[in-house]
Amino acid sequence: MRNPFAKPEPSIKRRKNPEGEYAHLDTAELLDAVKKSAHSDHRADLDILLNVFLDRYQARQQELDDINHHLETRIQDEVNLREANHKLYEQQAKMAAMGEMMDAVAHQWKQPLNALSLISDMLQGDFSSGSVDQAYIDEFTQDTHQQIDHMVTTLNEFRTFFRPKSTEESFGIKRCIQSVLILVNDEFMQKGISIHIQSEKEILIRGIENEFKHLVLNIINNSKDAFEERKIKQRDIYINFYTDDTHINLEIEDTAGGIPKEVIHNIFKPEVTTKPEGKGTGIGLYMSMQIAQKLGGSLYVVNSDKGARFLLEILINKGSF
Ligand SMILES: Nc1ncnc2c1ncn2[C@@H]1O[C@H](COP(=O)(O)OP(=O)(O)OP(=O)(O)O)[C@@H](O)[C@H]1O
Ligand SMILES: [Mg+2]
Repeated sequence: MRNPFAKPEPSIKRRKNPEGEYAHLDTAELLDAVKKSAHSDHRADLDILLNVFLDRYQARQQELDDINHHLETRIQDEVNLREANHKLYEQQAKMAAMGEMMDAVAHQWKQPLNALSLISDMLQGDFSSGSVDQAYIDEFTQDTHQQIDHMVTTLNEFRTFFRPKSTEESFGIKRCIQSVLILVNDEFMQKGISIHIQSEKEILIRGIENEFKHLVLNIINNSKDAFEERKIKQRDIYINFYTDDTHINLEIEDTAGGIPKEVIHNIFKPEVTTKPEGKGTGIGLYMSMQIAQKLGGSLYVVNSDKGARFLLEILINKGSF
């Protein structure tokens, strides 16, 4: 039954197609329209306004999804590119090291080869003059073996250096540095460079031995280049390693005058070099930093009053053994 005392329902007026009125409004204006219509005869417009909002929200959501998808693809592309670049750098660094090692081995072999050729020439002359007896032959055999041993050691070091090995193991810093020096010794000596290992006590670290050798080689080869480029007279490289409470430290310092100011803050980035094309690619120290990080450490450089001082710092509980 109809209640005669009940207030009549306020009539909600529906207007014809008011949507068009709202379509061009911006968000603030729309909100304003919501407020107004909530208190007016136009309450029927509320659901229309809500639809306008919803449509806009969905359109925005779609735009955002598209942007996100686009960004994800771009990030993935970027990651792929970086990985490809890193592999390329690794390959280039290996080739460069191999080239430098070949030079070192050539130097290393030159002297024993000369000696062998000299003693075999002498053998011929001494045989003709009749002075070849058992004692002569014994000495001859000993001399030739000594020279050949030197060549074989170099060759073995060279081969193990480039034998791909990806397993981590524990190795001694000192022994590793010494085996790098076996390879470069003659070349460095010929260029008047003395390397002084100042620490006595062996320290073990954990990682890939050849990579560590590569890091040391990169640093001392840079010193060699700086000595040569700048025609430095006093050519020394000091190597020091020690542990403190938290870290294993390896310091390599030269007397070549230091890193040029314009590159010192960027030398661990790829392709930063002051060397002419064909002489340097700027990858050596970038690779060295990657190796340092794999060892659970980091690489730093400062210029001292003599030259460049590199510090490899490895956190003890991560990198040590
Ligand atoms: N001991 C050093 N003394 C002076 N400058 C150095 C020394 N070590 C590095 N640098 C500077 O840092 C730059 C970057 O060294 P890095 O080993 O990364 O590249 P590179 O030696 O130029 O080229 P690559 O190692 O790829 O052959 C060098 O070009 C040089 O300017
Ligand atoms: Mg270099």
